[in-house]
Order: sequence, then C-alpha cells, then structure tokens
Amino acid sequence: MTSYGVSIIGMGYVGLCTAVGFASKACKVAAYDIDHEKLALINRGIAPFYEPGLEKMLKKTVDEHYLICLLELEDAILKTDITFIAVGTPSKPDGSIDLSQVEEAVVRIGDTLRKKNKHHLIVVKSTVIPGTTENMVKPLLEKYSGKNCGKDFGLCMNPEFLREGSAIYDTLHPDRIVIGEHDKKSGDALELFYRSFYGEEAPPIIRTNLSTAELIKYANNTFLATKISFINTVANICEKIPGADVKTVAGAIGLDKRIGPLFLNAGLGYGGYCLPKDLKALIAFSKRLGYDPVLLKAVEDVNEAQPNKVVEIARVLLGGLKDKKVAILGLAFKPNTDDIRGAVSVKIIKRLLEEKAKVVAYDPSATDNARKIFRGEIDFAASVADCLKDTDCCIIVTEWEEFKNLQPEDFIERMRNPLVIDGRRIFKPELFEDRLKFAAIGLGQPRKTDL
Ligand code: UGA
Repeated sequence: MTSYGVSIIGMGYVGLCTAVGFASKACKVAAYDIDHEKLALINRGIAPFYEPGLEKMLKKTVDEHYLICLLELEDAILKTDITFIAVGTPSKPDGSIDLSQVEEAVVRIGDTLRKKNKHHLIVVKSTVIPGTTENMVKPLLEKYSGKNCGKDFGLCMNPEFLREGSAIYDTLHPDRIVIGEHDKKSGDALELFYRSFYGEEAPPIIRTNLSTAELIKYANNTFLATKISFINTVANICEKIPGADVKTVAGAIGLDKRIGPLFLNAGLGYGGYCLPKDLKALIAFSKRLGYDPVLLKAVEDVNEAQPNKVVEIARVLLGGLKDKKVAILGLAFKPNTDDIRGAVSVKIIKRLLEEKAKVVAYDPSATDNARKIFRGEIDFAASVADCLKDTDCCIIVTEWEEFKNLQPEDFIERMRNPLVIDGRRIFKPELFEDRLKFAAIGLGQPRKTDL
C-alpha cells in the first residue's frame, strides 16, 4: 500500500526546499539522498544549509510525519506514486553539465520500477540541457525497468524556479508551473498533483514537450543574467558621464511595462550556483548545435569583468593596495543566504590578496563557508564595527539589510582612512560624499556638474 504521496531524490537546495514546501501543506513526502549523514540531519529537523524559514518548517513537517527521509531509494519509490528527481547537475571544466548524478539516480529508479506493479510517474526537476529527458532519462528507465515509458510508467520534466533566500515562499507561491510531458497521461497526472496541491491558488500551468520545458529553465536564468549584465553595462557608461546615475536610469526604464523594474540593480555582477552555471551550459550546448550565442558570451564577459572594478577603484583612490587594510562587507552571493558558491566576494578578495592588501571580512551568515576557502589568509570580524576598525577602505559586496542602515559616522569613527566603495548601491551618494571619500558603481564623476 502506498504510504506517501511523492518521493524526492536529492536533498540539495531544490530537493529539500521542495520537500519541505510540499510537506508543509499536508502532502506526505519520502526523501532520499546518497548522503546518509544529510538524511540523518534532516530526519532530526536540522537543515544542512541556511535558508530563511526552512529549519522551522522542516522541524514541524518532520515532527508531524509529513516528511521522512528513507535510507533506501527503493523504499522511496515503492512507497510513492510520483518521484521527483532533484539531484545536482554541476558544471564540467568546459562549462557543459555533468549528468552523472542524474544518470545514477535514473538507473536505480529504473531498477526499482522493475519490481513495481503500479503505474509510477517520474519527474525530472534537476536542470538538464534540452534533450536529456528524452534521450538519456527515458532510455535508461526503459532499459533498467524492462518497461515502456508512457504505458507502464510516466515521465515529465518540471523545471524549478525557486530563488535562494526565498525558496520556501517561491515553492508555495510559484509564478507558474512548467510541465514538459512525454505523453498526455504523464502531463495530466502531474497537472492533477499540482492542481490538488495549490487548489484555488494554482498559478498558470504551461504544458509542453520535454525539450521545451528543459529550455525554458535555461532561457529564464540566462534572461535574468542578461538583464543584470545589461544594467551593469549602462552603469559602466554612466561612470564616464559626469553626474549620471545608473539608479535613476534603472528606475526610469523599469517603469516601462515592457522592461519591468526587477533585476535592474547594477552592482558587482551576478553570482551564485545557478546563473553562472546555466549560462555556461547553454553556451556550450548551443555551440555544440553549431550556433554561436554571441549575446550570451557578452553577458558572461561583462559579468567576469564587473567585480574587478571595485578593486581598481580602491587601487586608484588609495594609490596602490600593498599593505592597505580593506574591509569587505558581505560574503554571501546575495542577502539572506549563507551560500558563497560563485560569490563575487571570493573573486574580489582573491584579487586584493594578489595585490598584497590585508583583508578583513564580515557577513551575517556566510563566514563559516568563507573560512573554508580563505584558511588563515584573511581575517573575519564578528560585527560591522569590528570589521571597519583601522581600515583604509570598505567595499560593500552584498546588500544585507544590516548594512543599509549604516551612516557616514559609522565609517568615519572606525576607519583609519574613511573610503567607502558602494558595490551594490545601498547608500545615498549625497549623504556620504560630503562626509568621506565615496565611490559607487554606476555613478558618473565628477558628481557636481552643470551638465
Ligand atoms: C536563480 C533564479 O533567480 C531562480 O529563478 C532559479 O530557480 C535559480 O537561480 C536556480 O536556477 O536554481 P538564485 O541563484 O537564488 O536564483 O539567485 P538570484 O536571485 O537570481 O540572484 C543571482 C545573482 O544576481 C546574485 O548574485 C544577485 O546579487 C545578482 N543580482 C540580482 C544582481 O546583481 N542584480 C539584480 O538586479 C538582481
């Protein structure tokens, strides 16, 4: 007898947040991961990473027995009707994606399906390049189960759009659900699951074929990356125009309904695990198909150069960086996460160390992760005040709420040489520039001009 509604394979970011989101609305979830230590933590209600609201909800769903981690993948499949595959698809050195975790999970799922008499639906949630579900997942499932896809078991591709830092909210309130279906019966089954899960609040559901669903995920993330590199390009132009300010430009163009206001924050470029990886993967995939996606390559180039700018500004304004003490405020790739994968902070700190600067950093939650990278090479402070003490320059790298309320005197009182470089445009220039040395991304110099 089926004891659970769905099983989720892979307890990374997407897998765990989806599992907790589903379980929070009384959907019974059986979770599995090859990392049994991680499963043990989750079963005790402990989240293996920081995400606002996750641990509280995890504990509740575990205590109420809506979420349980099973130590055998076979159990998870046999006890459920729908299995979501949410294992990682990291980058290979050439930028293409490494599908080995998907392959391993699919082989084991196929093996288990052989023993199952009931119809089962497999749903690929991992980000995979177009063609993967049809050309790799389906043949492997058929081979190892000895069954026919579309007849004995169903197959869908259902990309995930949740953002770190608001993953639980995004799971419970998605903008849309994309269902790529191998066959109509499979698509109907997944749509039914989502409709009964979200009820009246179900978002638009887009049904399409497997490859289109796979491409939608990449198009979504690469469009977001393109918006960011676009506004950073405008920021770089602003810096050459006395008195120009990218924030005003972004605010104005964002009011055009065709453009929209979101993802137009100029700064140090995008980081994180997904945007950089997905852009690389789509470029590599497209090239393999014989099409050179020059626009996407330009997006990447702009993003690669962007973090270096604050180091350059610091070098010029300090007359060299050797032995200068630089405070870094923010290590996480964005606020409300402890994740430093792909974080621009890492690139900036490495450049500063190459230039023989001394670095002290503070982040409200990502310090432990950063320590693993910069073992003994930089100092970590326990507060903003500690971080700024006796420094020659402060670079704002992540726009944590805690930093937004800082006033000029917070810097003047603690720094040896009060120079603030606002890499995320969190401060009002007019409040800072008369009180201390101040520079910011996308701000034309000189600032006071009749032009
Ligand atoms: C991204 C997508 O936004 C999600 O929809 C997607 O599901 C996820 O990747 C994924 O594929 O798993 P995430 O990596 O959490 O989510 O981060 P974003 O919120 O997209 O931010 C990415 C980077 O862009 C951050 O470094 C952020 O600081 C930067 N950013 C964002 C800007 O520089 N400017 C902006 O205006 C917005």
